[in-house]
Amino acid sequence: MTDSNVQVSRRRFLKTAAGGAAVAAGALHAPFIIAQPAKLKIGLMLPYTGTFAALGTAITNAFKLYVAEKGGKLGGRELEYVVLDDESDPAKAVDNAGRLVNRDKVDVLVGTVHSGVQMGMVKVSRESGVLSIIPNAGAGAATGQLCAPNIFRSSFTNWQTIHALGKVMMEKGHKTAAWISWKYAAGQEMFEGFKEGYEKLGGKIVKELWLPFPNVEFQALLTEVAAARPSATACFFAGGGAVKFVKDYDAAGLKKNIPLYGNGFLTDGTLQAQGASAQGIYTTLHYADSLEIAKDKDFRLNYAKAYKLQPDVYAVQGYDAAQILDLGLRAVKGDVKSQKGIIAAIEKATVDSPRGKWRMSKAHNPIQDSYLRQVVGEQNKFVSVAWKALADPARGCKMG
Ligand code: BEZ
Repeated sequence: MTDSNVQVSRRRFLKTAAGGAAVAAGALHAPFIIAQPAKLKIGLMLPYTGTFAALGTAITNAFKLYVAEKGGKLGGRELEYVVLDDESDPAKAVDNAGRLVNRDKVDVLVGTVHSGVQMGMVKVSRESGVLSIIPNAGAGAATGQLCAPNIFRSSFTNWQTIHALGKVMMEKGHKTAAWISWKYAAGQEMFEGFKEGYEKLGGKIVKELWLPFPNVEFQALLTEVAAARPSATACFFAGGGAVKFVKDYDAAGLKKNIPLYGNGFLTDGTLQAQGASAQGIYTTLHYADSLEIAKDKDFRLNYAKAYKLQPDVYAVQGYDAAQILDLGLRAVKGDVKSQKGIIAAIEKATVDSPRGKWRMSKAHNPIQDSYLRQVVGEQNKFVSVAWKALADPARGCKMG
């Protein structure tokens, strides 16, 4: 059935249902009944336990904040949530996503945070054709080799978050660096992104250090950083793991002589717990806490009012996931089966985001500024635009 056929047959169904109800109502002298479209089912597949639990919660909070701002509806449709804790476990990803799509019959799949889990979700999204929005995980393939018309991101690719960091570190005079991260898809892709940008400008990576996700036993690796004597360290950690890494790096006495850099996940949503250990750290990311953007000021105020918490980059991505879904649905008057119309509307939109305005690339990934930020108190303060309108190269994507 084509997209427009689906639209027509659904409209016909509503008309018939309303007509039938009116006849029945007349026969029984009951009040006139107007048929309401069924609630839109949103599958939220995110981590709510483990090292990325706070990330999943922030995405969920902000998604619901946007919906609340729109009177509890997206594209005129009321919502019903089916919430699933993916535990950041790639081994369960295909089964979990499959259950949401095939058993729970969600209309839209929103998730997730962890790149490995995302790969399982992408498989289900491609096979089922369900409209899917990625509110964090940066796995390049999702908007690269495996890009698909029904898959959108409201976040970033792993490459995109760290591409500017090499330039920043070279400008600060760090000609040698150690790299440390978790050994899984995101850590590996971020390393490749960092290496590409840093080595192109003459930087040399003198030590590569890895530990399995989500381990946080950093001590032996920190001894190796000290022994390698790099000018600086670059890394990727996020959530609970980032809190411990920043504190351990400081406690090992490394911070002063071998400054720590990373993409902004290192210090986003973590500053209260990291305390003095995070002060002064420079990172790159597509959000900062002190942007002079009216939309961001409103967003921060409303989020803090609703949740008694400061928002972070994950919250921004959750908010924008709801926002792109809303603008797609509005274009088709809430008819989620009218997928071509939804896709066309999202593709041509300019998203008015707390991070600044952005547009989708042809591969369905945000084209956005990468900011240099520095930790001051409990804020990732905006320093400068490290890279204007940075687009992921979308290697291998055949769309568009
Ligand atoms: C990822 O696995 O893609 C990821 C997780 C946390 C923060 C950023 C990226």
